[in-house]
Amino acid sequence: MMIPVELKINGKDYSLNVKPNELLLNVLRERLNLLGAKYGCGIGECGACTVLLNGKAVLSCLILAASVSGQEITTIEGISENNKLHPLQEAFIEEGAIQCGFCTPGMVMTAKALLDENPEPGYDEIKEAIRGNLCRCTGYVNIVKAIKSGSKKLKERRKE
Ligand code: FES
Ligand code: FES
Repeated sequence: MMIPVELKINGKDYSLNVKPNELLLNVLRERLNLLGAKYGCGIGECGACTVLLNGKAVLSCLILAASVSGQEITTIEGISENNKLHPLQEAFIEEGAIQCGFCTPGMVMTAKALLDENPEPGYDEIKEAIRGNLCRCTGYVNIVKAIKSGSKKLKERRKE
């Protein structure tokens, strides 16, 4: 049995038929070739699969695609504008917050959800927000710095 699903992903409308047990992460990666969200643990423990669902950070490895029909998804592929990286992406590069990069899309999406809700978070709020995103490489210091820097960049952009 297939279930018809309508999704708005990165501003584009998609009509798909999905299996009842098909995960949002698999639909993004395998059907739509949106490979930014990563399959890490598959059980909700690493955050590598984080995307935004109606603006909130969610773990796409735990969400059935059929359960989010009619809703809006944003992936890392959808946050740059006019071929320009999102300020958080720039900040991750500048602060050396990326090593292997496997955790980065999920980390950036979690950070984006945080800054959309709380544009100037303190260090403790940043650490709290990313506690579900595991990084095996960087040690988190530069990631936290990058999110702080991304927040400053966004503030500057709002003034322009
Ligand atoms: S792959 Fe989703 S939380 Fe690890
Ligand atoms: S940069 Fe490698 S897991 Fe985070």
